[in-house]
Amino acid sequence: MNIFKCFSRLLLLLLLFVFQYVTFAIDGSVYKTFLECMSNRNSSDHVSSLIYNPNNSSYASTLQAYIRNKRFNTSSTLKPVIIVTPLHETHVQSTIVCTKTMGMNLRIRSGGHDFEGLSYVSDINFVLLDMSNIRSINVNIEDETATVQVGATIGELYYNIWNKSKVHAFPAGVCPTVGIGGHISGGGYGVLIRKYGLTVDNIIDATIVDVNGRVLTRKSMGEDLFWAIRGGGGASFGVIISYKLHLVRVPESVAVFRVTKTLEQNLTYIIDSWQRVADKIDKDLFIRLNLKPDHTKNTIHATFTAFFLGNSERLVNVMQLGFPELGIQTSDCKTMSWIESVLFWSSNVNDPVEILLQRRFSPKFSKRKSDYMQTLIPKQAFESIWKKMVELRVVELVFNPYGGRMSEIGESETPFPHRAGNIFKIQYSVNWDEDGQEAESYYVNQSRVLYEFMTPYVSKNPREAYLNYRDIDIGTSVVGNNSYEDGKVYGEKYFKGNFVRLVKVKTMVDNDNFFTNEQSIPILPMRKNNMGK
Ligand SMILES: Cc1cc2nc3c(=O)[nH]c(=O)nc-3n(C[C@H](O)[C@H](O)[C@H](O)COP(=O)(O)OP(=O)(O)OC[C@H]3O[C@@H](n4cnc5c(N)ncnc54)[C@H](O)[C@@H]3O)c2cc1C
Ligand SMILES: *[C@@H]1O[C@H](CO)[C@@H](O)[C@H](O)[C@H]1NC(C)=O
Ligand SMILES: *[C@@H]1O[C@H](CO)[C@@H](O)[C@H](O)[C@H]1NC(C)=O
Ligand SMILES: *[C@@H]1O[C@H](CO)[C@@H](O)[C@H](O)[C@H]1NC(C)=O
Ligand SMILES: *[C@@H]1O[C@H](CO)[C@@H](O)[C@H](O)[C@H]1NC(C)=O
Ligand SMILES: *[C@@H]1O[C@H](CO)[C@@H](O)[C@H](O)[C@H]1NC(C)=O
Ligand SMILES: *[C@@H]1O[C@H](CO)[C@@H](O)[C@H](O)[C@H]1NC(C)=O
Ligand SMILES: *[C@@H]1O[C@H](CO)[C@@H](O)[C@H](O)[C@H]1NC(C)=O
Ligand SMILES: *[C@@H]1O[C@H](CO)[C@@H](O)[C@H](O)[C@H]1NC(C)=O
Repeated sequence: MNIFKCFSRLLLLLLLFVFQYVTFAIDGSVYKTFLECMSNRNSSDHVSSLIYNPNNSSYASTLQAYIRNKRFNTSSTLKPVIIVTPLHETHVQSTIVCTKTMGMNLRIRSGGHDFEGLSYVSDINFVLLDMSNIRSINVNIEDETATVQVGATIGELYYNIWNKSKVHAFPAGVCPTVGIGGHISGGGYGVLIRKYGLTVDNIIDATIVDVNGRVLTRKSMGEDLFWAIRGGGGASFGVIISYKLHLVRVPESVAVFRVTKTLEQNLTYIIDSWQRVADKIDKDLFIRLNLKPDHTKNTIHATFTAFFLGNSERLVNVMQLGFPELGIQTSDCKTMSWIESVLFWSSNVNDPVEILLQRRFSPKFSKRKSDYMQTLIPKQAFESIWKKMVELRVVELVFNPYGGRMSEIGESETPFPHRAGNIFKIQYSVNWDEDGQEAESYYVNQSRVLYEFMTPYVSKNPREAYLNYRDIDIGTSVVGNNSYEDGKVYGEKYFKGNFVRLVKVKTMVDNDNFFTNEQSIPILPMRKNNMGK
């Protein structure tokens, strides 16, 4: 069965490839037709300078500028027929209309961090809409809001908030280069998650261009679509231009610590304590746990990194009351400003704040997977997990605690369903430097083996996953013809019961399934009985 499915997919890919080759690669007329369509709509603009075909000398550098995973920067990676780098929302409107008219697939890229490259790779002819130039940020401290365009990065957002206020912040991710467009439409979390929830829990408006090229805001798009693009993934619904955020307040001083322990230092006992308290402790405190195997020393290096909305003295008190097993003392902690804590988490606290504005990134080959933990891991099981990790050598785990604000928000308030009842989330992380298919198979396989091994301990029916940790292993559907049945497989893992509402919204706003990728939301299946019988 599986072999047959695999074979027929290969055949389909082969046919698509031949089709693409014959119709497009040889023939520059597609570019010409596309350029004409774009120019006709915007004759006063010099749009040709924003539209690249593979012959343009800067096509490759434009494509590669926001590839954040070397797995999708190879000569065999499928490339866009055309790249558009819009400067204005009218260019986005035209790109949607022209791409649709020409029957091509559209891929939307903001920061390019998608772990499976879905924002810039497609196996059918596609136009890449690169939003990196649409990136203004407007912070308004009076009403505690900010309007951020999708091509901005999280680091730029943090910098701009800090530049206007030392007591405001925003609950988004840790890595400064992550793009607003993908991050927010897919959920978004960082060290403020237990205090203020997800990024999507702090959004008050948005601008989107729909399949007909119309520019819509919250009022004109309606509450259903506005709900969907706060965690349901933007790429199924339209091209988001900007989000309006509600800023949150932080004290002038926050505190952090980072301590590392190995198995010889009672680690299992400490981690068992961590899992019992991490989601229940004071919600001003977030303690991430990174686990790294060391096969030469046959041990695990566990790093506890904390962020706390208060000074070091209070942090030590909270730790002594709630999690004394880690033995944190004042000398382990450092009091600093919120923006310094951003640097502490992402690079180095002594870096200049301007480093947050840098877009440079040296990608590795990487693969991620995710799991949700709703029951405690038995203490003896930890021992077998450590053994497995050491044996596999290359897979790291990151535990991120939930609870606090996350448990106060209903499962259907946003498409992101992993709320009350989740103790922590696991990220499986493998990075490597070796080129080639063989290395890729090896490393990716190691992550799958550990994922299988963890099955008894993680959420079930469905085995839940985080959309922003995109993982095509959990299911895919056919681009352009995403079936409800296939979509349900990954859809329920990412969204649980919210999948059904996402399908309804999708059907309402994009009934012809123009916005499609390997894990997009399918439209409602047509009722066969109604089809002209
Ligand atoms: C190094 C690194 C660190 C990370 N750290 C965190 C973290 O701390 N917290 C966290 O929550 N996540 C984190 N992530 C995951 C990250 O949030 C997701 O990968 C996110 O989707 C990236 O957004 P992007 O705009 O950079 O990605 P892209 O690859 O550009 O987009 C991701 C998806 O969103 C779609 N999309 C992008 N822009 C638009 C738009 N304007 N309109 C419609 N659809 C759009 C794309 O088509 C694609 O499907 C991290 C990822 C990496 C690589
Ligand atoms: C690229 O250049 C080749 C050789 O000049 C030409 O045949 C082809 O049509 C061009 N392709 C595009 C997309 O313009
Ligand atoms: C571009 O075209 C769109 C659609 O025709 C139009 O609404 C917009 O005003 C044009 N923009 C410019 C700058 O010409
Ligand atoms: C790409 O090349 C075409 C000619 O084939 C030209 O018209 C267009 O301006 C070029 N685009 C860019 C972005 O340089
Ligand atoms: C992609 O590959 C090219 C060489 O083909 C290289 O010059 C470039 O730095 C690579 N970019 C990334 C992001 O890996
Ligand atoms: C920070 O704000 C000051 C004005 O308060 C401004 O001059 C400066 O350009 C801002 N920096 C950035 C990078 O926006
Ligand atoms: C390890 O933890 C146990 C409790 O399980 C405790 O009795 C013991 O003293 C600890 N050992 C060290 C070295 O901290
Ligand atoms: C994956 O790795 C495991 C353990 O390292 C090994 O037993 C298995 O054969 C590998 N499978 C593939 C398909 O490489
Ligand atoms: C689309 O999917 C449906 C259901 O899987 C299938 O019956 C149909 O043939 C497919 N259409 C195309 C064009 O692939």
